[in-house]
Amino acid sequence: MTSTPAITVILGTRPEIIKCAPILHECERRDYPCTVVHTGQHYSEELDSVFFEQLDLPEPDYELDVGSSSHGRQTGSLIAEIEPILEAEDPDTVLVQGDTNSTLAGSIAAAKREWTLGHVEAGLRSFDREMPEELNRVLADHAADYLFVPTEESADLLGDEGIPDERIRVTGNTVVDAVQRHADIATERSDVLDDFDLSSFQYAVLTAHRAENVDNPDRFEAILDGVDRFAAERGIQVIYPAHPRARKRVEEFDIDVPDRVELVESLSYLDFLRLEDEALVVFTDSGGVQEETCILGTRCVTVRDNTERPETISVGSNTLAGTDPEVVSSSAREMLDRPVDWGCPFGDGDAAARILDAITADLAAEVA
Ligand code: UD1
Ligand code: UDP
Repeated sequence: MTSTPAITVILGTRPEIIKCAPILHECERRDYPCTVVHTGQHYSEELDSVFFEQLDLPEPDYELDVGSSSHGRQTGSLIAEIEPILEAEDPDTVLVQGDTNSTLAGSIAAAKREWTLGHVEAGLRSFDREMPEELNRVLADHAADYLFVPTEESADLLGDEGIPDERIRVTGNTVVDAVQRHADIATERSDVLDDFDLSSFQYAVLTAHRAENVDNPDRFEAILDGVDRFAAERGIQVIYPAHPRARKRVEEFDIDVPDRVELVESLSYLDFLRLEDEALVVFTDSGGVQEETCILGTRCVTVRDNTERPETISVGSNTLAGTDPEVVSSSAREMLDRPVDWGCPFGDGDAAARILDAITADLAAEVA
């Protein structure tokens, strides 16, 4: 055994691809052997291959094609498929990221056997057990040998749950590394503002894809109504790059999308980063978008009843509006009165390096 760790990264959805990219780049820079397992939870080009291209990532070593299905079926078949890959690769460390069904499956497959499991973006809590993501992140955290947390606040939450300090490493969030690497490239290369005929800071953005919002027609319509009220007051357009799940629900529930809200397919990373960066305000139920707006200095209104990113509320970049239309529009109005003078609570852009340093040091200690 040497102290150069062999790593297997398990990923499968848009946010995992984006937030694992800095780790894959850092492994490449250090010449660490790294195997990528793509679960296939996301498979549409707009949620998958476009990110591999734009983030300059190698093709995955394994592609599992799990596709969409119920939670149990998706998670269960992934556990069964990941286990033999780990047997074949026998890595020193298995990394999972975030809170999806792919995260949970990778965690269980690794932790039930002899492999060391690291959970990237550990320690987030919405305290809402109705969310599938909350169960996934709690279970992954309690399965993991190493918990790479973005902030001290997350470390404290894990301590409160009895997770020993020596398993917890405060590294920052790799989302900062990704934004720092790509924000200027997005400004240079993306034509998204021209494509939608938008002027900087004279439009809003909406992303809503979370099950508790778009699978409930009343909540979904209330969000659209609230965003539309704000847009009407300001006389601006709203661009809504919609996840396929949301587009499906619009059709299924026969939802009348207001004229000011332009519903389009999900955008590539560079186009979306540019759109976020130059928006007057972003309405969202996404975790990653709450973080990115905070990093980019864009005001954010979260259309949920809770958030596992409370740091964004504390620094003032984000506000929780729920889905009541009047509250959604007045929250955006109030955000416009706030100065954009907050600092980024998610680290300095060296999270991937810190994660690999921690893995390397732990392996060296084991070898010694
Ligand atoms: C998943 C995660 C969520 C994360 C989101 C990131 C879970 C439980 N949820 O939600 O935490 O925020 O990814 O975007 O893991 N679909 C496609 N093409 C695809 C993938 C899905 O059309 O490539 C459609 C299918 O109709 C599918 C639906 O979207 O049934 C939901 O997909 P699923 O992977 O179950 O959950 P997401 O909503 O993507
Ligand atoms: N994103 C994107 N195109 C879009 C919408 C989002 O590239 O049209 C990116 C965004 O920059 C962020 C990530 O997707 O990095 C967030 O993923 P998502 O909202 O699907 O998941 P969550 O963060 O809620 O788990």
